[in-house]
Amino acid sequence: MAKKTEEKIVYVDSKGKRLDGRKVEELRPIKIRAGVIPSADGSAYLEWGQNKVFAAVHGPRPCLPKHTASPYKAVIKFDYKMATFSVPDRKNPRPSRREIEISKVCGEALEKAIFVERFPNTEIVVIVAVIDSDAGSRIASLTAASVAMADAGIPMRDMVTGTGIGRAGGKMLVDLNKAEEDAPDAVDIPLAILPNSKEIVLLQMDGIMTKKEWEDVYPLGEKAIMQVYELQKNALKAKYAKNGVEEK
Ligand code: CDP
Repeated sequence: MAKKTEEKIVYVDSKGKRLDGRKVEELRPIKIRAGVIPSADGSAYLEWGQNKVFAAVHGPRPCLPKHTASPYKAVIKFDYKMATFSVPDRKNPRPSRREIEISKVCGEALEKAIFVERFPNTEIVVIVAVIDSDAGSRIASLTAASVAMADAGIPMRDMVTGTGIGRAGGKMLVDLNKAEEDAPDAVDIPLAILPNSKEIVLLQMDGIMTKKEWEDVYPLGEKAIMQVYELQKNALKAKYAKNGVEEK
């Protein structure tokens, strides 16, 4: 049988440009707005490349059902949901294993930044709706949720900020898009840290890379994360910094 000849995709060209024109260490365009959902205690809207997410925070409030409460801390209930129209194939509206996993890891990451011990027997509910996606949606969700949490006035030791890092076509990249994530040799690493202490709070790895590759790409990721952190702060300042009065 004749072998199908597949054209080799060049993920980074001779000028150092990626498929979408970015440099290897460059983030996709990011926009963040705080306080977009009046019915929530805190909220944010975030665009990250094609990803579009809303995050709403409710609480701290009495934890229900009561058996889910902790006498030692607030329980973070993170709910990541993709709209049926957020992906090229219709997403089944039933909660998927993937959504349950993302809710778990994002909730645990966010908890690291919150003084949960100050609010025993309460819950803090974080609901994230993904409206459109193109890889990196869990990090977009976590980044938006962190802004929404700060917007709710919940005491935090730091923000939670992230980016994807990884490899496509043998090149180490920051913030992989879907085409790069689908490369035959792709390694996709969602990474989130507390930007001031640099503590890693979320790190997952789809694929395998060498220690050298990790050591090359991690510093690029950390640098990009500090840019995202500035955007998070700017979003909050835009709402609150005006003479210390909330913008209407
Ligand atoms: O979005 P993230 O990179 O955090 O998670 P992923 O599981 O690595 O998914 C990568 C991308 O695949 C998502 O952002 C969606 O664009 C896409 N996807 C999809 O097309 N259909 C699904 N049911 C789930 C994800």
